Amino acid sequence: MPSECTTCALTVIEPLGAPLSGVARVPGDKSISHRSVLFAAMAEGSSRLSGVLDSADVRSSLAAVEALGAQVSVEKQPDGSLAGVVTGWGARGPRQPEEPVYCGNSGTTVRLLMGILAPWNVSVELTGDESLSRRPMRRITGPLSLMGARFLPEGRETLPITCAGSAGLKGVSFDSPVASAQLKTAMLLAGVFAQGVTTVREPAPSRNHTELMLPEFGVPVVHEPGMASVTGPCVLHAADVRVPGDPSSAAFVACAAALCPGSDVTIENVGLADARIGFARVLERMGADIEIALESDEGREPRGSMRISYVPGLRACEVAEREIASMVDEIPVLALVAARAQGTTVFHGVGELRVKETDRLQAIIDGLSQLGVRAWAEGDDLHVEGAPDAPVPHGLVFDSRGDHRLAMTWALVALTGSVAVSIRDFEAVSVSYPQFLSDMQRLVR
Ligand code: S3P
Repeated sequence: MPSECTTCALTVIEPLGAPLSGVARVPGDKSISHRSVLFAAMAEGSSRLSGVLDSADVRSSLAAVEALGAQVSVEKQPDGSLAGVVTGWGARGPRQPEEPVYCGNSGTTVRLLMGILAPWNVSVELTGDESLSRRPMRRITGPLSLMGARFLPEGRETLPITCAGSAGLKGVSFDSPVASAQLKTAMLLAGVFAQGVTTVREPAPSRNHTELMLPEFGVPVVHEPGMASVTGPCVLHAADVRVPGDPSSAAFVACAAALCPGSDVTIENVGLADARIGFARVLERMGADIEIALESDEGREPRGSMRISYVPGLRACEVAEREIASMVDEIPVLALVAARAQGTTVFHGVGELRVKETDRLQAIIDGLSQLGVRAWAEGDDLHVEGAPDAPVPHGLVFDSRGDHRLAMTWALVALTGSVAVSIRDFEAVSVSYPQFLSDMQRLVR
């Protein structure tokens, strides 16, 4: 059931009325921000974090680690990011919190915490909002149980779930049925404190931020696309982390530029990990003009700039299942671009969208049909029959279903066109990109 917020106000989004141009900076990467906070909390000593995304989701991770005994001292910076120091619990382990740990809307917070808490002798009830409380958790608790972790009630699929500690974890070799960085990370984090080798293999390469960041905290990781392995037990040591801009937020700017005639935008200081920028490869295949300039890498998070220039006449394309993990959060906005391309675009193997913050597969189909665009699912494949010249009806009301990425996707209908739309619960953008609207408006000035 989608979350229906009947009391939420409608936000009217007006057309930008001009091409997007100039330089954009997007807020810190959500996945990397979560990891910086959580790994710092696990580490011995004080870690310095900068460029951290200030959003509802990351605040869930900050509040959780404080409740578990880490000391957090971060402040809002003039650019809107968070920076400061997190002192971890290190070898002492997390403390027993007095109350359940509430993870809000954040799947990354709760799923990574399951791996973090699994090795310790604490009993922590994890809870979340209505959306998070519907999302599947057995995909995490199941494999962690193979390592010896205990979760109560046993075999439960949804929150609330209690991490009930363990009497010593052992490393396992796990072939994951899904390409999920949250699952991979939960196992690797538990594996750091387990006896022996923990290896996770996945059907397609998911984002590798954990593999790149754990060595910064002194934990060696053996990895290649589709496989990662740690050997425990091991201790994390404090590190300095500089979080790059979020490619998933940049995707909204890029797609807006690809849709809006005359646009030419450069997004600076954005993360450029291969496992995250699948959306740029798809936009290129559709005919958009994209230039990527890598600034630094050094075995750490690749970052640099991405320039997108509008090219008329976007074409449909096929997206293979193996590519989906590299753009899993961008499918809604890519589907909107596909709706404006000539021909039928097929996104293969996007069944995971059904278990995101809401059922995004159904939400895409419903939202595109409001635009008069035919979109349908065949098994786990999403088909979008482009209608480049279909006019946007006046008076459209889209429902974000409390999902940040849907709120921003439907906002692009108005921002890149000439007809205003209303969005129910647009405030959901605070989960990943609170300043989305003002950043977009800045690009037409
Ligand atoms: C994330 C992994 C992805 C992604 C989510 C963030 C992460 O989820 O959709 O927004 O930070 O590891 P899955 O692991 O479920 O694919």
